[in-house]
Amino acid sequence: MPDYQESTLQLITHRSIRLTPGDQGHRREVNLACKTLPMYDRTASLYDLAYADKDYAGEAVWVRDAIRARLPGARSLLDVACGTGKHLEHLHGDFACQGLDLNPEFVTIAAGRTGVNVHCASMDGFDLGREFDAVVCLFSSIGYSEDLTGAVGSMARHLASDGVLIVEPWLRPDQWVPGLVHVVDHEADGTRLLRMTQSGIDGHTSILEMHHLVASRGGIEHLVETHRMSLFSLSDYESAFLASNLTFEFDEHGPMGRGALIGRPLK
Ligand SMILES: C[S@@+](CC[C@H](N)C(=O)[O-])C[C@H]1O[C@@H](n2cnc3c(N)ncnc32)[C@H](O)[C@@H]1O
Repeated sequence: MPDYQESTLQLITHRSIRLTPGDQGHRREVNLACKTLPMYDRTASLYDLAYADKDYAGEAVWVRDAIRARLPGARSLLDVACGTGKHLEHLHGDFACQGLDLNPEFVTIAAGRTGVNVHCASMDGFDLGREFDAVVCLFSSIGYSEDLTGAVGSMARHLASDGVLIVEPWLRPDQWVPGLVHVVDHEADGTRLLRMTQSGIDGHTSILEMHHLVASRGGIEHLVETHRMSLFSLSDYESAFLASNLTFEFDEHGPMGRGALIGRPLK
């Protein structure tokens, strides 16, 4: 998990312009530190703002219905790489839920939001010592896996014998376009976030260089994070499912249009 364990912060000093109330319209130049950070290390608290317009409630309905269509009596659910718990928030009325994430700050936020048990562990190899009727891994978190077979195997080992696994895939190699810029701009509770993400590529790994400008009354901070996510093909996913003794079904739409990989333990 090198991206989370790298502790070095790269500080790049750059110039920026800030207006302060006392300036009465006169501009003053200040130095801001631009910090290059491991994934979500300093931006966990900005995550919900960055995805303020994501339809977690609607996606949770899709997930619930997909599980119930296959296992009407499903009662328990594990959300792997649950982030801040926004799917769990909508699912824990329907299922007895638990969550899991690698990032301790997300674990704390998700547990606080939902009141459910959230484990801090890597999806690539975890053992909670119990099974669930449904295991889900949403919003393309699987792309962060450094061991697809290990991750799918860990999820499969936590499935009841008639359970349902739903994995929302990351983009496939033919869907990834390097050199694009994606912009989000949201404001809440006195904080405005402007995030520009540039896509890049390194072999079969997609690179997302994310520049966050975070403005509050205290000033403007510039944080840079580089995310690396594997571009698995459908046959990579299928091989990992079959290696874990799971059936493999691909739903083209899934919760948000990126599709869904659905598996059940082979009898
Ligand atoms: C795109 S976010 C999705 C979070 C959440 N599922 C959602 O829908 O908002 C990706 C998540 O994967 C987590 N993650 C990355 N690598 C992981 C790993 N090896 N094991 C567990 N979680 C991981 C991150 O901490 C982050 O919460």
